[in-house]
Amino acid sequence: MATEVLQAHKLTKRYFREGRGQARYFDAVSDVSLHLQAGGFTAITGRSGCGKTTLLTMLAGLLEPDEGEVVLDDKSLYTLSDAELSRLRNTHIGMVPQIAAAIKNLNVFQNVVLPAGMYNAHDEQAAHERAHQLLERLEIAELESAWPELLSGGELRRMAIARSLVCSPALILADEPTADLDSQSTKLVLELLKEQAGQGCAVAVVSHDAEVNAYADVILEMDAGRLT
Ligand SMILES: Nc1ncnc2c1ncn2[C@@H]1O[C@H](COP(=O)(O)OP(=O)(O)OP(=O)(O)O)[C@@H](O)[C@H]1O
Ligand SMILES: [Mg+2]
Repeated sequence: MATEVLQAHKLTKRYFREGRGQARYFDAVSDVSLHLQAGGFTAITGRSGCGKTTLLTMLAGLLEPDEGEVVLDDKSLYTLSDAELSRLRNTHIGMVPQIAAAIKNLNVFQNVVLPAGMYNAHDEQAAHERAHQLLERLEIAELESAWPELLSGGELRRMAIARSLVCSPALILADEPTADLDSQSTKLVLELLKEQAGQGCAVAVVSHDAEVNAYADVILEMDAGRLT
């Protein structure tokens, strides 16, 4: 039987929107339950604004839901202290944010290995070797010493993907990981993510890119905050 890495129970996130004279609350994510299994590749699709990033951010332990819970490694994320939650995130989750970000005064390699230096929970030497391999695989090895400010959008995206994988997390949550990539780089990234699933990782990818669906074992469609 496949092992469940993460379970989400009835997640709801409510936001306040100031419209033309009609400010109101609305559910960006409404009553969403799902589970992500070890070795599984799940695609989450849906129109712009339907709640995909909000959902993924809650799954990653970065945004507390108004209702429901997220369970990872038998722990309910939002009952943990900040310190416990950030440790669990750092040791178990690789997140590729929709807007790829970098620490400006660290070069590409230093940005990629950054998670491995935290909490002393990872073998730093192994992470450094893995970082070199990942940058090679993602065809940005020649940028290891470059400053992130100088990277193109697609290079920065691939750097963020390498960083998310450097600690070999049990769970990978990737938000539009192929957004700025050409079709060849898209294939590189999706094959790399599929390979992580093949090695037992639970992978969830949010995307508009229909190509992602071809790699997925499960496709979850969202519409107006709900899974359809
Ligand atoms: N902090 C916030 N306050 C108010 N509304 C928000 C906030 N964050 C997001 N929203 C709204 O919630 C809805 C869902 O946003 P979300 O970013 O989850 O969508 P998405 O499916 O990821 O869209 P896209 O495909 O464009 O990235 C959108 O209508 C957005 O405008
Ligand atoms: Mg989004």
